Parts: sequence; C-alpha cells; structure tokens
Amino acid sequence: MKICFATNNKKKIEEVKAALGPKYTLVSLEEIGCNEELPETGDTLDANAFQKARYVKEHYGVDCFADDTGLEVEALHGAPGVYSGRFAGEPRGDERNIGLLLEKMSNHSNRKARFRTVIALILGEKEYAFEGVAEGEILDKKVGYGGFGYDPVFRPVGFEKTFAELTLEEKNQISHRGKAVKSLIEFLSQRKF
Ligand code: IMP
Repeated sequence: MKICFATNNKKKIEEVKAALGPKYTLVSLEEIGCNEELPETGDTLDANAFQKARYVKEHYGVDCFADDTGLEVEALHGAPGVYSGRFAGEPRGDERNIGLLLEKMSNHSNRKARFRTVIALILGEKEYAFEGVAEGEILDKKVGYGGFGYDPVFRPVGFEKTFAELTLEEKNQISHRGKAVKSLIEFLSQRKF
C-alpha cells in the first residue's frame, strides 16, 4: 500500500522506511510530483501537521502523513514552539536561532524545555495524530557537534550529554521524533487492510 511522507528530508524518509517494512511503499513529496512548498500557516504543531497532510491528500489523492516539531521552553511560555525553525527570522539558520534563545534565557534560572513532535496521518477518510515528547533543559552554551537545530543546547533528562553529543541511534531512541515515529509505525503495522 502506497503512503506518502510529506517531506523531502531524505534522512527522515530512510529512517521511517527501514522501520515500516514491506507492507507499505513509502514515497516522498518529490516522488508523487509535489514540488511546491506545503502550506504551514497554523499556530500549533497539530494545525501545521494536519495542514500539510490534508494538502497532499487533497491535491495528490494519496494517503499520507506529515510531521511538525517545536522546542517548548517553560520560562518562555512555550516559545519558540511552532516558530522554532524561524525563531530569529530570515535568513533562517540554526546559529541565529540558538543565539536568540540563549539571549532570551540569560536571566532565567528555570531551564526546563521539551521537544514535541506531532505526526498527522490521513488514511482514506480518517485522520489520526501521534505525539512524541523529549524532556530536558537548555544549557547556557553550545556543547557537541552532531545533530541539527537546537541540539547543541538541549540536554535530555537523565543524560550528561546534549543531543548534539549523542549518536543518531542514541538520539532516535529517546527523541521526540523517534517516539512519535514509533507510535505511528506500531499503528500502521497492526492495521488490517
Ligand atoms: P520540523 O518541523 O522538523 O521542520 O522542525 C522545525 C524546527 O524545530 C527545526 O527547524 C529545528 O530548528 C527544530 N527542531 C526540530 N527537530 C529538532 C531536533 O531533533 N533537534 C533540534 N532541533 C530540532
């Protein structure tokens, strides 16, 4: 059964493809001929994930799922949240986003934060949502060179290392996206056609 992952991020596709097995043929946006940018104008992660998934279903007629992730910092009342990728405005960049985050956090002793991923799935007429959360704290400087986004300043609960110091496998085991993808895969694998 064909299902589209509404992303062109090859790493994300490969990760899910490997876990899904042969029951589903996973295709990217490019593979269904969708080359335009998907609308993402909601003000919550759920709204954005569903907006992207519904767009693909409506315009290309394929079952699909889309993800949206945000970093939610307690002292900043949940910011940058849904705006994580464009926190410091244009041009978008991890360095600028991290710089702004550390600046805003400079007077806060409460460093609690969490990454949250929402996956919106559309199968035929039905819609489903899956969520994954990784709790942790924001450091006052960058540590580590791996990962992407806010990884060098995020230390997950129970670890002495930041996400940027973990291997991809280690990060996937405990990360927001890893957990959301796991729930999605469990659901899809148990589903009867
Ligand atoms: P997206 O919804 O996966 O495109 O993520 C939106 C933004 O959240 C990204 O541009 C990053 O700034 C941030 N982000 C998402 N996932 C991660 C992660 O695993 N580590 C660090 N930052 C992330």
